[in-house]
Amino acid sequence: MTTLTPVLTANWDQADSFTLSGYGEYSAAKKALGMEPDAIIKAVKDSGLRGRGGAGFPTGMKWGFIPQGDGKPHYLVVNADESEPGTCKDIPLMMANPHSLVEGAIITAYAIRANHAFIYVRGEVLHVIRRVQAAVREAYEKGYLGTNIFGSGYDLELVVHSGAGAYICGEETALLDSLEGYRGQPRLKPPFPAVAGLYASPTVVNNVESIASVPSIIGNGADWFAAMGTEKSKGFGIFSLSGHVTRPGQYEAPLGITLRELLDMAGGIRAGHRLKFWTPGGSSTPIFTDEHLDVPLDFESVGAKGSMLGTRALQIFDETTCVVRTVLRWTEFYAHESCGKCTPCREGTYWLKQVLKRLEKGQGTEDDLSTITDIADNILGRSFCAFGDGATSPIHSSVKYFRDEYLKHFEIGGCPFDRAASTVWGASA
Ligand SMILES: Cc1cc2nc3c(=O)[nH]c(=O)nc-3n(C[C@H](O)[C@H](O)[C@H](O)COP(=O)(O)O)c2cc1C
Ligand code: SF4
Repeated sequence: MTTLTPVLTANWDQADSFTLSGYGEYSAAKKALGMEPDAIIKAVKDSGLRGRGGAGFPTGMKWGFIPQGDGKPHYLVVNADESEPGTCKDIPLMMANPHSLVEGAIITAYAIRANHAFIYVRGEVLHVIRRVQAAVREAYEKGYLGTNIFGSGYDLELVVHSGAGAYICGEETALLDSLEGYRGQPRLKPPFPAVAGLYASPTVVNNVESIASVPSIIGNGADWFAAMGTEKSKGFGIFSLSGHVTRPGQYEAPLGITLRELLDMAGGIRAGHRLKFWTPGGSSTPIFTDEHLDVPLDFESVGAKGSMLGTRALQIFDETTCVVRTVLRWTEFYAHESCGKCTPCREGTYWLKQVLKRLEKGQGTEDDLSTITDIADNILGRSFCAFGDGATSPIHSSVKYFRDEYLKHFEIGGCPFDRAASTVWGASA
């Protein structure tokens, strides 16, 4: 299964891919607005689409949780906060193909009976915000947004909202607080957003890629989508290869493809080097090594091997990379981004950073290794939101696979990968 399945990425090399003329008419939205909302929800359920934001929750099922006839306004919120280290699919998608997202938002909002939708974009990416705003403006001008869309009597207002650059605002309930104008911190669940989300009303929060996949499902049918991928992880997804790879980039492929197959298409690890470790889905997913090259990249298979598919952010590291230094960098990110609401994460990430700094400099002891795993054990499953669990993934997995490398640091009293060191430790092993 080495074939790519370009759908969302199909027109990225077209000069005008981000304009309405490059994208085409919103034929799937037109079709959808002629359908019953429940029939759209059923089609998305039947397609097997699972959330592309990391957790893989079935999208149609999530829409089905929105209460009907409750007399409350309903909202759709698109999560475009993409800030996970290594994750880099939604931003290029919004740059190259923003209309798939806008069209998907129309179909989704109609299905869940919402007349207001928001796209919450990560604050640092001003060029992306402008690109999505331009697409929304074009859609309004064409009558695809606003009142009486396609003469169906359906109205939708779509607002592009800029975040302020906090990773935690990608967590769906922190995002909702931020959108409401509060400091972005996670809310206690339940109630889940489907019951009490934005302004305490029923709300669907979905990832950019999830929503952008919807027009193709409505246009081509649920069976078309379900025919791709694996039994429980259906369809296609964008796999982002970055790091020490010959041709890094976005590879849209059926779920269940392996890293080996993706690397074949990407020209392999950079010349003269070999794979050391990689993340299947961003820094919050436990690392894998070269023994996992043939693990099918679907939710179940990756989970069975002790990691998570996450956002398919495949960060590739070759043998010249110090795993301790990499874990330290990620941990510095988590310590900086912890929102501070709960003690295990706020204090734990701070202390992990301190101890890892010592270990990386070769000034640690074997006790420090026990300390970082002990701290991570006290964060995992004891934090208020999934951020805390994510912060422990690099720690536990790196100690599991690369304990010797940690030990080597304090054996030689420094980092064996420093340029100053006479040899790069492990490079010739
Ligand atoms: C710390 C943290 C950061 C997150 N960041 C994002 C993000 O940037 N984009 C995203 O879609 N989901 C992110 N999520 C997951 C969301 O909470 C939520 O599960 C997702 O938006 C649901 O969309 P989906 O069902 O379409 O995947 C994050 C979760 C956590 C715990
Ligand atoms: S786990 Fe971290 S990010 Fe999540 S609520 Fe606690 S302090 Fe905030």
